[in-house]
Amino acid sequence: MGKLILLILFCHVSSAAKHSLKYFFTVSSGVPNLPELEVIAQVDDIMVGYCDPDTKIVEAKQDWVKKYLDDSPQQLEWYNAQCSYNQPNLLKATIFRLKQEFDQSGGVHVLQKINGCEWDDETDEGIGFHQYGYDGEDILFLNLTTLTWIALKPQAVVIKLRWDADMPRINYNKDFLTRICPDWLKKSLDYGKSSLLRTERPSVSLLQKTPSSPVSCHATGFYPHRAVMFWRKDGEDLHEDVDQGEILPNHDETFQMSVDLNLSSINPEDWRRYDCVFQLSGVEDDIVTKLDKAVIRTNEGKSEISAGVDQQHVSDLKAPDNGAELSMRLNPET
Ligand SMILES: *[C@@H]1O[C@H](CO)[C@@H](O)[C@H](O)[C@H]1NC(C)=O
Ligand SMILES: *[C@@H]1O[C@H](CO)[C@@H](O)[C@H](O)[C@H]1NC(C)=O
Repeated sequence: MGKLILLILFCHVSSAAKHSLKYFFTVSSGVPNLPELEVIAQVDDIMVGYCDPDTKIVEAKQDWVKKYLDDSPQQLEWYNAQCSYNQPNLLKATIFRLKQEFDQSGGVHVLQKINGCEWDDETDEGIGFHQYGYDGEDILFLNLTTLTWIALKPQAVVIKLRWDADMPRINYNKDFLTRICPDWLKKSLDYGKSSLLRTERPSVSLLQKTPSSPVSCHATGFYPHRAVMFWRKDGEDLHEDVDQGEILPNHDETFQMSVDLNLSSINPEDWRRYDCVFQLSGVEDDIVTKLDKAVIRTNEGKSEISAGVDQQHVSDLKAPDNGAELSMRLNPET
């Protein structure tokens, strides 16, 4: 549940060619098996640490993060504070207030806070962000120019007014988002450069559920997440009949994405004019896959296997938002 909402909000803060450090805080009410507070930290959309819900201390996900925190006791202390006292209480008070404002006495509710910063290593420009979502919709964010909270729903106005009056907290947030966060992000990129600044090319395959379904060009196993994929006809980019999917994380710190081509108005003899192109930031060569019946993987019994489909990544296709559809397209036995 938390993961799904995370993806919805995530779109607003992610952009093309930048590095990012993001913190996701999730509190829920009415969900029996979720910990009261879930906190994760991501660098370039890779999870680098989280709060252990039992010990309430930060756990590093990678060796370089351990080294970084060992070298930076003040940061370790800051992270542990995020896991323990002030965050849970502030977030719990906020979800309690929102339930009142929305007139909700029971049911399942989720409040999520996302803050952090982006930094462009070419222009050295950065931006900070700090926003809240409730039940999957954005409700509040901090405008760092006016230093005021913006309520995106009438029910959030009470909270906005209260938080606007808390100038010390706003100033702390501003300092954190515009000075401390970019500094920590740059240090992270330095400590983690061998993994964070690597490139990995994906395997690309063509998938089709039934003969009348769109053909999905699917790339999995790439890193970093700065990638684009599109269909071309006679070498020209296509926008019609194309459904661009979003970039989703795999379990092994790589990413996957797919772009669907609706074949219904395309003559079979014209298929050879189409190809799918995958471009990865920092890598010169594109991966080009021609639209060819012989390499399409289907779920129709006698499925053909395209060269280079990585079995490990096939199991990663059960991603939260398109998993159901993709697992129908792929026969796990193949
Ligand atoms: C913050 O406020 C300024 C001044 O009103 C405005 O120009 C800017 O677009 C706002 N920023 C966001 C992210 O809405
Ligand atoms: C494909 O295009 C046809 C005709 O343009 C349309 O009727 C059909 O709904 C489309 N299919 C999908 C899956 O979008």
